[in-house]
Amino acid sequence: MRKSFIAGNWKMNTDVHSSVKLAEGVVSGCKDVAGSKVDVAVCPPFVYLQQVSKALQSSHIALGSQDIYFEQKGAFTGEISAAMLKDVGCAYALCGHSERRHVIGETDELINKKVHAAILGGLLPILCVGELLDERKANKTDEVVTRQMKKGLAGLIAEKMSAVTIAYEPVWAIGTGLTATPQQAQEVHALIRKLVAQMYDRKIADAIRIQYGGSVKPDNAGELMSQEDVDGLLVGGASLKTEDFVAIVKASV
Ligand code: PGA
Repeated sequence: MRKSFIAGNWKMNTDVHSSVKLAEGVVSGCKDVAGSKVDVAVCPPFVYLQQVSKALQSSHIALGSQDIYFEQKGAFTGEISAAMLKDVGCAYALCGHSERRHVIGETDELINKKVHAAILGGLLPILCVGELLDERKANKTDEVVTRQMKKGLAGLIAEKMSAVTIAYEPVWAIGTGLTATPQQAQEVHALIRKLVAQMYDRKIADAIRIQYGGSVKPDNAGELMSQEDVDGLLVGGASLKTEDFVAIVKASV
């Protein structure tokens, strides 16, 4: 039985005050279910990780970063290493979020290095995959997701796979108000699990958690989560409102 896993991706939002307030709201709103019934994480901007980490102390809400760099240290101006993220209390690191792929231009090869660096540094990577609208219209969803999965996990041995979460986020559903139907999500989640079984084995495929992301809201969370292969949610916009995020977490229990 896979434990549900809900993560909030705050993207480039909040400030010192509002990030702490939001974290405190999530802690108190989720205290009856977080940890015991569902895993919950929040991913604030780098500069607020430390304050948010303090606000999460002695709660069951985990901290995650929105990105990570693959080198361990040195002359990489502007970048943040796994050790730095661990140092401020991160447990998770998003790798290859669609905005990093399509706005910043990250490649599958770079994202693969980030996944490896996260694991090497003791973090749990959340590898994000998903197709563009044109790719879906051209019936290329399976091909794109297969490529992102194979390249994103290249070189990762089976023993390390228990650290990995996959987030399926159709790019056309992110921040657009368009959500994949539960059936559309289920189809791609089933494909992802099948790929993991092919690349590793059935046991690893049955254990890996696959989140859905893309305009998740309190009123669609329950139906998405009711799908057999949807094990969690990666929430953007709705994770910035305490009540909405807490309602999504509760709808997932
Ligand atoms: P959204 O973002 O919920 O605002 O669509 C999801 C994400 O990008 O992780």
